Amino acid sequence: MEHASCAAGNVALVTGAALGIGRAAALKFAEMGLRVCMVDLPSEDLDASFEAVSSAASDEVAAVPTDVSDLSAMEVLRDSVRSHFGGVDILLNNAASRAGRGFDAELSDWRRLLEVNLWGVIHGVRCFLPEMGTGGKPGVIVNVGSKQGITNPPGHPVYNLSKAAVKSYTESLAHELRTNGPSSVTTHLLVPGWTTTGKNDHRPGAWLPEQVVDYMLKGIDAGSFYIICPDDETSEAEDRRRILWGAGDITEDRPALSRWHPDWKAVFDRFEI
Ligand SMILES: NC(=O)c1ccc[n+]([C@@H]2O[C@H](COP(=O)([O-])OP(=O)(O)OC[C@H]3O[C@@H](n4cnc5c(N)ncnc54)[C@H](O)[C@@H]3O)[C@@H](O)[C@H]2O)c1
Repeated sequence: MEHASCAAGNVALVTGAALGIGRAAALKFAEMGLRVCMVDLPSEDLDASFEAVSSAASDEVAAVPTDVSDLSAMEVLRDSVRSHFGGVDILLNNAASRAGRGFDAELSDWRRLLEVNLWGVIHGVRCFLPEMGTGGKPGVIVNVGSKQGITNPPGHPVYNLSKAAVKSYTESLAHELRTNGPSSVTTHLLVPGWTTTGKNDHRPGAWLPEQVVDYMLKGIDAGSFYIICPDDETSEAEDRRRILWGAGDITEDRPALSRWHPDWKAVFDRFEI
């Protein structure tokens, strides 16, 4: 059973559509007969992905270079989508930056990453939600989080922070939609596992972006809010174990990030659910 928002002729808008999961999603939506608006920073990658998606599509595809962190650019995008496509049925807020690795990364990188990963999502929702669900039409908003925004592993704190904020924001959005509507629009938090994206070589253990997109579509069809993808290295059961251990840091009064604490690592290794 396909979700009603995936009907042929409907409109999917995908941010970060030049590469990786966004590109695979744009391709899948086009193959399903949706009209697709591909959004990314201007680049040869966006041009090449637009060519590939267009040639697989039976309906309209557009590529609109836009920086999701720039509200006025997003408003221009919204106006052009409104006049060209009439509106959006599926909004996939997927664009992300991985700048600013390490706790001492430049503050400009911390700001930039939050502007793209968090504000880009907020801008997408602010620009497109008001015109979704009109007349009870089904709509879907998927915001892309990360396991790093749930379990908070050491190494890239600003990325973890941005994805934890996307999780919190999307949970609030789900509550808002079911309380104040439009009730025909649902929102979902897609949490990919380790996925080969960008221009990286595929390595054993990782999923391909197409697997993530198929898993996302199944999750939307099932009405799941949390769509947490496994990969070939980390099973669904292992994800549950890690998430429950992280929550236990709070309820069991353990040190923060105890999973990586020398006194706790062995206890975590023995932890069973
Ligand atoms: N690949 C993984 O293992 C993995 C794991 C967990 C979560 N994710 C999340 O999945 C989503 C997709 O990531 P991916 O791995 O496919 O990455 P990717 O790098 O292949 O694609 C990200 C795209 O976002 C675009 N982008 C960056 N800044 C932008 C901006 N300001 N405006 C518009 N577009 C912008 C990039 O140009 C790029 O095309 C991201 O939200 C990422 O955080 C990925």
